[in-house]
This record gives sequence, C-alpha cells and structure tokens, in this order.
Amino acid sequence: MSWHQALALGLLLAWQLAGTALAQTGTGCPFTGDDRRYIMPLFSIDSGQDTTMFITDNTLTYRQGFLQSYKATCVRVLDRNRKEPEQQSKWNMLVLYRNDTTSGSREIYFCAKFYWQSINIIQYQLSGVYATTASDAASRCTIFESNNRYSFAVVGFSQQYQIYNCKTILEGVFWFTYQLKDSSRTPCDALTNKIKACQRAGSQERDSYIATFNWGQCPGLAATKDTGQQNYYCYGMWTDNNNNVYAAVGMDQADTKFKYRCLVTRKDQNERSILYRWGMTVDADCSTLKSPDESPMKLILRPTLDSTDQVPQLRPGCNLPKNFTGVWFQPAEYQTDVYINATTIKLRRQLNQYQWEEVYFVCRQESRYLMAVVTEGRCDVDYICMHFMPRHHNIIRFRMSKPIKHDPNHNEDSNYMSRRFREACDWFSFTMDQVEWTYEYFVLNPPVPINCPIQGRFKFNMVGQESEFYFTKIPAGVTPRPRVQVVCDQYWESDMHACIGENKQLSLDVQRCMRLDHIGRPLSEYDVPDNILTCVGYWMEDAKSYMITFDPADPVVGNFRCWIYRRTGLRTYRMSRSMASKCMPDQTSSSAYPSESASLMLELTDNERLFDQCPMKFDFGKDPYTNTFQLEVFAHAGRLSPTMRPALLACLVAMVTAAMHSI
Ligand SMILES: *[C@@H]1O[C@H](CO)[C@@H](O)[C@H](O)[C@H]1NC(C)=O
Ligand SMILES: *[C@@H]1O[C@H](CO)[C@@H](O)[C@H](O)[C@H]1NC(C)=O
Ligand SMILES: *[C@@H]1O[C@H](CO)[C@@H](O)[C@H](O)[C@H]1NC(C)=O
Repeated sequence: MSWHQALALGLLLAWQLAGTALAQTGTGCPFTGDDRRYIMPLFSIDSGQDTTMFITDNTLTYRQGFLQSYKATCVRVLDRNRKEPEQQSKWNMLVLYRNDTTSGSREIYFCAKFYWQSINIIQYQLSGVYATTASDAASRCTIFESNNRYSFAVVGFSQQYQIYNCKTILEGVFWFTYQLKDSSRTPCDALTNKIKACQRAGSQERDSYIATFNWGQCPGLAATKDTGQQNYYCYGMWTDNNNNVYAAVGMDQADTKFKYRCLVTRKDQNERSILYRWGMTVDADCSTLKSPDESPMKLILRPTLDSTDQVPQLRPGCNLPKNFTGVWFQPAEYQTDVYINATTIKLRRQLNQYQWEEVYFVCRQESRYLMAVVTEGRCDVDYICMHFMPRHHNIIRFRMSKPIKHDPNHNEDSNYMSRRFREACDWFSFTMDQVEWTYEYFVLNPPVPINCPIQGRFKFNMVGQESEFYFTKIPAGVTPRPRVQVVCDQYWESDMHACIGENKQLSLDVQRCMRLDHIGRPLSEYDVPDNILTCVGYWMEDAKSYMITFDPADPVVGNFRCWIYRRTGLRTYRMSRSMASKCMPDQTSSSAYPSESASLMLELTDNERLFDQCPMKFDFGKDPYTNTFQLEVFAHAGRLSPTMRPALLACLVAMVTAAMHSI
C-alpha cells in the first residue's frame, strides 16, 4: 500500500467515524420515533390566559390572547424520560427552541419541558429567555430542568381529540352531590344528579369514551356551564407521586375556555366507605386543582343502581329458604358482610383497604337458585346459579356457577328466564375451578353458639410458627405467671376443655396449674382461660371435618376461624387452624405452617382428671343436621377409689348436683 493510499483510507475511516458520531448524538430535531407523540395542537389556560400551543415535529407556535405570539424552531432535544420524585409520567422531554419571531440581531433561546400524559394531554413548562449562544442556552436549560417543579406544569388539552377509554378514569353508575367552592350553600344533592360511565366490552360505540353527567338543579348553583345532561369525552388520566389521580375531560361546547375540565381524586381516600371524592375545575384552568377538597367544585360520588338497566332485574321471582334470613359473614380476604332476606342476598364487601362495594343477588328462578346479580355503581347485570345446602348450625354452604351476562335484547322473550336457568344452572357450569373444595359458606354473624364437636379436657401441643401460638394472657392484658398466688411446682400444663355446662366453647390455657388444693379442688379453678373459642358450626366434606369458631379477641377478619379436625387415636386429636378465616383446599388436620395453608396445629391428648365433669365426646360432622347432639361418649367409668373419704365424696356429689342444675 502506498503512503497516499493509506492516507486516503485513513481519511475515509475518520470521515465515517465522524459521520456515525453525528448520527448517534443527533439533535433530535425534527422529532422522530417516540418523540412524535408530543406532536399535537394544545389548548390551555396558562397564567390565567387562554393559550394555544401547536407542537409540530420541528416547531412550536405559541399564542396567548393578544399578549404574546411567537414561533420557535427546535434546536435540540436535551433530555428524555427523566424520573423525577414529583411525577410519574413515563414520557417526558426537554427541548431547546430558538425564537424565530425575534427581530433583533441576537438569537434568543428558551426551552420547553413536556410531560406526555395521554394521547390527548400534555403538561408543559416554559423556561425564561436566554439571549446567548446555543450551547450556553443548553446548559441553562439543564439547570432550569433540575430546578423546576412538576406541580407548576400547565395542563394542555389536545384540540384534535382521539378516542380514550373512560374506563381508566371512571366506570359505573353514580349518584353525586356537588358544591362550588365560592358558594356558601350546602352541596346540591338533587335526586337527578347522576353519572353514567358504562363501557360495554368491545363496544365500538361512543359509550367507551363518553361519560354522561346529569346535573340536577339546585337553587343558586346554576352558575357553571354544567347544567342538565352533558356528555364528557374522556381525555386522559395520570397520577403524581403524592397519591393524587388526575383526569381530564372535554365536552361539546363552543367556548374553549369552558370546554375542558380537570378532575382530581386520591388513591387513599382515608375513609372506610363506598363514597368517592373528586375535585373538578369549572373551566380549563387546572392550576386551581389542589385536592378533592380544595377545588373549584367538590363532587361526592356514591355508587348506585342504574334505573334503566339494573333496577328491573331486581324484581324477585322466587324465595330463599326461610332460615337463611339474617346477617351473615363470608370468609374472604377482606371483610364481607352478607344480608339475606326472603328474596335477596346483599353482599357488602371490602375491595381493598379503602373501598367497599354492594352486590345484590336477587332470586329469579327456584330449585337451584338462579340469581340476578347487580352491583351498585357497576354497569353489568349477570345471572349466577347458586346451589345451597340446607342451613345447619350457623352455616349456609353454597356453590356458585359461572356468571352469564344478561342480554337486554332478548329480555322480552317468553322463555328468556328458563333459557338463562338452563345455561347457568347446568351442573357443568359449577365445575369452573377444578379444585377439590368448591363450597363457599356464610356464617351467621353474630353466631349462636352450638355444642362443640370435640368435648372433654385435653393437654395440647402447639405446632407451627411461634408467632402464631396461643400465649398466656388475661382479659386486661398479659401478665407473667404466677397469677394465682400459690406455688404450683411442676403442675403447670397446657389445657383445653369443653366441659358439661360450657360445652359450646373451647377454653384454652397455655399454662394452667393442675395442682389440687386442700379440699381437692384444682387451684386453677380461680384461673382465667387465655383464649375462648366459641363453636359456631361443623360439618364433613370430602372426608375432612370442618369446624368454625368465633373469638372476638382474634384479630383475623370477622373473628372467625376455620379448623380441620380429626381423631387420630382413642385419646388423641389433631386440629389445624386456617390462616385467615377460611380453610384452604390443600389444608389437612396435620397442616401447621403457612406453606401448608395453615397457621397452627394443635395435638390434643385426653387429660380428664378424677374430679372433672368433663367427658370426652366427638362428632366428625357427617350429619350436621341432627338436632339431638349424638356424640360418641368416652366417659371414664368407675375410677372412684374405694379409699376415698365419705366427706369428700359428699362434697363431690353436691358439686355434681350443682353442676347438673346449672346446665
Ligand atoms: C419571542 O420573541 C417575541 C418577539 O420579540 C417575543 O414577543 C416573545 O416573548 C419571545 N418568546 C420567547 C419565549 O422568547
Ligand atoms: C330484601 O332486601 C332488598 C335489598 O336490601 C330489598 O330491596 C327488598 O325490598 C327486601 N325484600 C323483602 C321482602 O324484605
Ligand atoms: C333450615 O330449614 C331447612 C328446610 O328448609 C332444614 O332442612 C334445616 O335443618 C334448617 N336448619 C336450621 C339450622 O334450622
């Protein structure tokens, strides 16, 4: 290779390297790829003035009333998608612009920070002007970005609306009250106030991106542009890092100032209720929105039933068994209260830490029960078939079929209900989850105590995580032993008993003094049990015996626990306690750890003493409907010692008689 060939090659290489470097750093102008999402014509109210801003791939045109009007050219994209503590938008961008409108000799730069919030919403912030070189302006922009506060960003609404699904903002049917900030009046609570945002699945119609508000009339509150029935197009939804949820909507309205609205609500509405608090602006100026309570207009939404589509479905067509009527509890992750009357099951259930919902199951067709299901504030109507076991103790066991959608178009057909019944109540539709244990149950709340299926006096052994163990306590708190001012020596034992006269509860004592006093009575008579589990129901299912207990001191939801119990020998039993209030399909009587779906296992050994009136009884729950409590009885027989002194015997007889009378 000659020297000038080498030079030529070197030059070529250098030129190519420089070329790629230029392409890689680039200026980002005009916008390409993902940056093109920022291209839209925006309307906003910026510092109280009606403002339009057209963002194209290479320019920015800004017009604010008669005050300001300029055009600028994109110089360089300085930053993209920065994570900031104040905001959560995934897409944001810092762009350096050169002011083209400037007439003087010096070039003037400024920069714009954009936050893309949805296909219809961009928030923006503009820096001051920099009469300097491009590179100096760029570094000042970077300082501007690091000093700027997202909370001052102006909300811009796209003037070329694109379909945005309302579901992310609001879904359902609500009754609401509204109150203007500057109004001294009480909130407007007209009965006709209603919001309906019902998006039908897969619907191509306007319902997917429109929410209808019906503003009822209240004297003195008609000052806003919102009166009568208004359709609001959903524009977008975004959140900040302070648990605020913002939404933007627009309506058919010629006056752009009033066409657009912002809304705010909070993720953590600190209230255990089914109410939703929203704040709303009365025009496109979103800077006035601070929190639901500090807004130009306060809305309080309450889920309700839709009078056209849902209420007609609530007409009952059959009756539930009479002894279902009452207040019940359904074991579930969160609190679920159940109200049953002759025709309707109403569930009031907690959805998460802050939200509740109310669901109605109305009896429509009998035998297996076809129920119409509507939820306040939700749009759907479903049919579900319920198969109930007759009630026993405090328990209603049931299975539910797959839900079937109500079909309003065929509602009038004469055989509509029987067709729904056949579809929903076919046995096939009950086998949706192929798990072993498909029965759910309601527990009467508060329960009526029943005789426990395990009775007697036992020593017990706790197996499981120590944090789940029962521990020594007295009602007013935890005290160290000895509570009884006696020496107990080696006579401390664990004790669980359900004895004659108190056989509706299992009393647990982690440590109980089993020593007798000078007249032969146990010293522990004066003792208080640590835990009292009231028996509320039991049954057998899939060869497992289930028992439900109630303990108001148990922090578990609803204070109910499910146990799986089994007799393991002549004098021994096992009881496995559920983790929450419900037993799990893979839990057995030997489960003791969370990995086995249990929180604790007790191993019981019969421990009846000479003077106890505490015969061992056991019922494995095969027939929970028998009223007469037929138990296997394993009482001790003739263990009274012949050497026992008559005085003591007389005393014992007196005690037994007293005990018998008190039953
Ligand atoms: C651009 O220049 C025009 C004319 O000098 C001025 O009115 C406008 O405020 C400038 N805008 C910015 C952002 O620099
Ligand atoms: C049953 O309860 C529902 C809902 O709570 C109610 O609308 C209905 O009137 C009640 N029916 C009877 C017969 O009490
Ligand atoms: C409830 O009524 C049904 C009959 O409708 C009966 O079989 C069942 O034993 C009753 N249960 C209770 C606890 O009263």
